[in-house]
Amino acid sequence: MRTIIIIALSCLILSPARADEGMWIPALLNKYTIEEMQKAGFKLSAEDIYAINRASLKDAVVGLGREGQPFSHSCTGGIISDEGLVITNHHCSHSMIQAHSSLEHNYLRDGFWARDKGEELANPGITASILSRVEDVTEELLAAVATKTGEEREKALKEAIARVERAAEEGTNTRASIKPYFNGTRYFLSIFKIYRDVRLVGAPPSAIGSFGGDTDNWTWPRHSGDFSLLRIYAGEDNEPAAYAPGNRPYKPAASFKITTRGVQEGDFTMVFGYPGTTREYLPSFAIEQLVEVDNPSKIKIRTAKLDVIKRAMASDELLRIKYSAKAANVANAWKKWQGEIKGLTRFRVAEEKRELEERFTRWAAGKPEREGLVEQYRRLYAGRRDLILAWNYATEAGTRGAEVMNLIATLRRRFRELPDTRDLAAYRASLQETVDAFFKNYDAATDRQVLAEMLRLYNSAGLDEQWIPDVVKFPDPPGGHERLAADLFARSSFTDPARLSRAISRLDARSAERLQREPLCRMQEGIDRFAEQLRGSLSEIQGQLDGLDRAWMVALMEMQPERHFYPDANSTFRVAFGKVAGYEAMDAIYYKPNTTLAGIMQKDNQGIPDYNAPARLKELLAAAGNVPVCFVATNHTTGGNSGSPVLNADGHLVGLNFDRAWEGVMSDYAYRPEICRNISVDIRYVLFIIDKYAGANHLVGEMTLVE
Ligand code: ARG
Ligand code: ASP
Repeated sequence: MRTIIIIALSCLILSPARADEGMWIPALLNKYTIEEMQKAGFKLSAEDIYAINRASLKDAVVGLGREGQPFSHSCTGGIISDEGLVITNHHCSHSMIQAHSSLEHNYLRDGFWARDKGEELANPGITASILSRVEDVTEELLAAVATKTGEEREKALKEAIARVERAAEEGTNTRASIKPYFNGTRYFLSIFKIYRDVRLVGAPPSAIGSFGGDTDNWTWPRHSGDFSLLRIYAGEDNEPAAYAPGNRPYKPAASFKITTRGVQEGDFTMVFGYPGTTREYLPSFAIEQLVEVDNPSKIKIRTAKLDVIKRAMASDELLRIKYSAKAANVANAWKKWQGEIKGLTRFRVAEEKRELEERFTRWAAGKPEREGLVEQYRRLYAGRRDLILAWNYATEAGTRGAEVMNLIATLRRRFRELPDTRDLAAYRASLQETVDAFFKNYDAATDRQVLAEMLRLYNSAGLDEQWIPDVVKFPDPPGGHERLAADLFARSSFTDPARLSRAISRLDARSAERLQREPLCRMQEGIDRFAEQLRGSLSEIQGQLDGLDRAWMVALMEMQPERHFYPDANSTFRVAFGKVAGYEAMDAIYYKPNTTLAGIMQKDNQGIPDYNAPARLKELLAAAGNVPVCFVATNHTTGGNSGSPVLNADGHLVGLNFDRAWEGVMSDYAYRPEICRNISVDIRYVLFIIDKYAGANHLVGEMTLVE
């Protein structure tokens, strides 16, 4: 009996990959992965997903980004018509919708639907990338650094990456991006076309698009219609072009067919997209630090910030619009960090990792280059502990604390251009633009309270004395931290748009100098210097950790030859597969995988802003029968997967990924198939809203619907 149990246990521990875990590289759907997918129900081939000599599903996937950093995809989208119509999340277009909103045209509140292409709204700076192909460049890059170590290696690597990227772009209208995979033991080159004219086509009101708001965020059961529609425009030749009214709707090589058949528990699902960052192979020390130091400090700082912002938003409709996207942003990671602590603790992730490390240490005994890795990890993470705490205060509470700190940082950087500036008028105008953009969504009274809170936190955090820069050393200011912040604000030109514009209109080297002597500016500079110093110390440790991570990855693969490894997310194109599945969330709580309109009526509460179902929706609901709204599945996803197309076994669109369920949000560090669920909006609900709620049938007409 006992031997049987032991054998069964060791099988569990040794089982190669946990079902459904993983974010795979579509260009490398090697035999094993595609076979697994097909076993799970997938009916198409690897070439149907990714091919370079013919159209494939990958041609219908879009990475959304910003000009200047188009490769750090903030969200994913899917092309759903042969006129470049793109579907993504409502929260992915949030800042675009907000930018077009005012008290007169409140598209956030009321929704927006272009009646024809002429009414679609341009979004300067937004980019949509479409992947052309991926190439393995490991050999070339590692050859360039083979004999080097430390900083020298870093430098040579950077140069080699730049060289290979430039060579790939040469003479084409594509852009190339090389990223490290498997802790930098492999490198792949991704080649994109980056479209720069992306217009807003449609968005439901927030009461539908983010129904449940921050209250329901990161939780299941969910009832958000979290979708919006964009359109990619291209030049005459269908190639990327800067915005121009005369650009034409992009003609894609492929677009997703939409099925109205729906999904049921157990159905195969597959998610395409650009997951941002995961760290699945960290040592136990890193997890402990995250749970004990890193997340708690960030949560504490953001709690204070959010309290102020939420009070302001509740007090005034204009402030609600101004702070809507910012508050959602601050709250999003804040809530996720809390869920991570819970999940990592509940599922004993550090303990499990420690067990693995003990086995590793036994295995590695006597093996050069393998032995001692765990000890090195322990030492480096111990050295990082206080630094990371200070870093969180320096950044979360400091450089990113009060918003004005950001503006000051930007302007101080720009002021450095002054000595070389020939055309002073143009320079001033461009500064003024920055300033206008900043003040569009700014409220000084709110920000002043945030600053007060940040100063209070700095001084009561129990930080080591040396970690508090002098400029924020105010443990007990006369009149309290509010008074101190009020005073700093009153004496600052940076918190008052009129005063700042006046200063800019006659700015020269001398007056810039004077501006920078203001106490608030001094404070910003001091915090900045402090953060820089910490960055230096941290990046020294990080450099050593990077080397260790590489060695660890290689050793782990050697120790577990039967395990099927996938690379951590790095904002490159991936596919995750799994199935629609409910889950046991907590003791005695089992969640079904689908939600329906009935749930919206049940949650509806006009007294709670997050649960204000629009009256018109409720009218429609009464007549609509039980339309499905959202579903959960076991696909391994993370931030950046928002807006990702969710496909069924036939490769047809069944939903749109937008979130993960609370009990499993630790999946960026440890995926557990029994508890980790991605949340998608059912495409049938999307069609219902576009067609019945918005009456925008012309958009449905563009799509290809299949059974
Ligand atoms: N949690 C989701 C993600 O990480 C959705 C966030 C947007 N919604 C919100 N209420 N803040 O992007
Ligand atoms: N909501 C996330 C996103 O915006 C998705 C996730 O973290 O699961 O990408």
